[in-house]
Amino acid sequence: MTDRLKSKNVVLGVCGGIAAYKSAELLRLLIKQGAAVRVFMTRNAQQFVGWMTFQALSGVPVCSDLFEKGDVASFKHIDWAAEADIVVVAPATANIIGKMANGIADDALSTFMTVVRSPAMVCPSMNANMFQNPAVQRNIKTLADDGILIVEPSAGDLACGTVGPGRLPEPEQILDRVIACLTPKDLRDKRVLVTAGPTREPIDPVRFVSNPSTGKMGYAVARAAEQRGASVTLITGPSELPVPATVTAIHVTTAEEMARAVLECAETSEIVIKTAAVSDYRPTRVAEQKLKKGEDQISLQLEKTDDILMQLGRKKQGKVLVGFAAETEDLNQNARQKLEGKNLDIIVGNLIGNPASGFASDTNQVTLFFRDGTQEVLPEMEKDAVAHILLNRIAERLLPAGEQPVGQ
Ligand SMILES: Cc1cc2nc3c(=O)[nH]c(=O)nc-3n(C[C@H](O)[C@H](O)[C@H](O)COP(=O)(O)O)c2cc1C
Repeated sequence: MTDRLKSKNVVLGVCGGIAAYKSAELLRLLIKQGAAVRVFMTRNAQQFVGWMTFQALSGVPVCSDLFEKGDVASFKHIDWAAEADIVVVAPATANIIGKMANGIADDALSTFMTVVRSPAMVCPSMNANMFQNPAVQRNIKTLADDGILIVEPSAGDLACGTVGPGRLPEPEQILDRVIACLTPKDLRDKRVLVTAGPTREPIDPVRFVSNPSTGKMGYAVARAAEQRGASVTLITGPSELPVPATVTAIHVTTAEEMARAVLECAETSEIVIKTAAVSDYRPTRVAEQKLKKGEDQISLQLEKTDDILMQLGRKKQGKVLVGFAAETEDLNQNARQKLEGKNLDIIVGNLIGNPASGFASDTNQVTLFFRDGTQEVLPEMEKDAVAHILLNRIAERLLPAGEQPVGQ
């Protein structure tokens, strides 16, 4: 639980599209973030998924019909709209998009949408030909012009067997846009550079020296900064993770490539956060051909790579500089040494060895070490939450007054 949507009222509209099953997962993620969620389902949506799933997950009766027999007359379409902090229609069919664009209110969801005044987000999902249909495109444009946030579908294999744009983004990506929409923009206009992932130092064309970093911490920092309005560049070593929305990614492999990219981008960044696990050493010689199995023992000679943080620290020029230190022992001493030696503002230290902390896990247990000698021990939490707390401390302690931190 990271609580990014604590005390927020979200209304989820589910339509009759093949991707309706993904909405149940979106609902679960919204609730995990602390939101109270109410669900409208169209009648056709219930051909794809049952209302009970949504009712059980949300804990609130699902609304599909404004005129339920035996029910006391209610104004759910008005009350739910008045109380909503955000409305998300996912999947949004060509049908609901057309109705919304034209102010048609002929069922519960479309009637509700005419009443909504909160931010509203529409996630179109349909067959590629349907999505590219000129009338559908016209209607999507009308919605965008009306101030509705459109979460563009991704392209790829669609359930109907066609290939092209129309696939509902993954629930995590939609959740990210919801959080972004509701997060105050305390880093607006700030240029933030984040590094993430491991580097790979080649031994021969098919082997390399690396480490188990997955990039999760750095991608979480990039995502959090973007949600808070920053313009984010992510320099990443090899990682399986999707690049967060609107973040500019630069993909690198070796420590040398990482150093070149970071030193160039840092020039124009106000905040630099280095979470990447960059190799300290690389093989002195890279074999041109694959090394053959032969001798019982061979040795690998290694040479030092450039210390990127040290170089950044030397010509800091008013930038905020944050490093990460994963240690197996003497965390306090090693982290403080790095903080001083590399002229950093904050170092985020964690002791590795605990499976719920450090490489590859979704959670982390870190200590923030500050320049003034103070430190803050954080409990184990999701990496997204660590990222936001780190950005809070940067905003509170290191940015000019008036930049208000968000949350915790
Ligand atoms: C198997 C099947 C899959 C469908 N998938 C989609 C879809 O992904 N997107 C879409 O816009 N319409 C899809 N449709 C068509 C809609 O269900 C149809 O336009 C319906 O009127 C939408 O109703 P609603 O917007 O009230 O939910 C599908 C229809 C069928 C039979």
